[in-house]
Amino acid sequence: MKVIRTVNEMVEIATSVKANDQTIGFVPTMGYLHDGHAKLIDQCRKESQIVIVSIFVNPLQFGPNEDFERYPRDEKRDCMIAESHGVDYIFIPSVEEMYRDNSSIKLQVVERTNVLCGRSRAGHFDGVVTVLAKLFHITKADLAFFGMKDAQQIAVVKAFVDDLNFSVKIRPVPTIREDDGLARSSRNVYLSQQERADAASLYSSLKVGQHLIIDGEKNPVMIIDEVKKNIHRHTNGTIDYVEILSYPDLKAVTVINQQIIIAIAVNFQKARLIDNLVINEHGIIVRDPFE
Ligand code: PAF
Repeated sequence: MKVIRTVNEMVEIATSVKANDQTIGFVPTMGYLHDGHAKLIDQCRKESQIVIVSIFVNPLQFGPNEDFERYPRDEKRDCMIAESHGVDYIFIPSVEEMYRDNSSIKLQVVERTNVLCGRSRAGHFDGVVTVLAKLFHITKADLAFFGMKDAQQIAVVKAFVDDLNFSVKIRPVPTIREDDGLARSSRNVYLSQQERADAASLYSSLKVGQHLIIDGEKNPVMIIDEVKKNIHRHTNGTIDYVEILSYPDLKAVTVINQQIIIAIAVNFQKARLIDNLVINEHGIIVRDPFE
């Protein structure tokens, strides 16, 4: 595995890979890799001839009071994990390398942002699509792999590449969970022991919602209420939101008669955790919501 730190070198490599007619699979990350990332890389490895992973904690997608400075970083460990999963190139640019001068272009996402995490993270998705536009160009990716844990992100990114005719194909990969159901996240390290134990109830609360739908409940208000009750019963965390929306459009629904997302965000002392299930109208989990 080769470590690349400059845009020019990454572009040169990607150009010669394309000249050889090889498929480039890309996994964009902010580092501190865990099993969730490993799953993305493994899937990418299966579907691509050349695998590129990027590690870049993107300042543009963090708000002023968010955790950019203390976002966990461990480049050495990340490189070991990436190499052991068969990555060919790991692209680790500095902030100065990615954002050289003041940019004269500002991307703004105008749909799907005023719900879920977007509501409390103004400008977050503008920062995400800006960095991804650059990374897709730099890596010349044919396929890009994203975890369904960030379901709003992948819905926004899919619409972004469709709207702007990027040729990259977006591949959703199911959420990786701990044995007790907690979704893997770099932010789980911020949880206290008690919070870590309680955090499993995020998933069990989603399952409560899913089972109500399987049993025929069609009223989202009623389901949201039961999910919230379950979270309150099992954690001291503060609920930021529990929402049921159409997926991937992320519009409000009054009756469950289509593919939907049940999404939750809970604030613990030092970590904000999110989780979701994308399910069809009968309550069955959907593996690829864009198919
Ligand atoms: O999901 C993430 O880790 C980031 O939002 C991404 C896609 C790497 C863009 O910075």
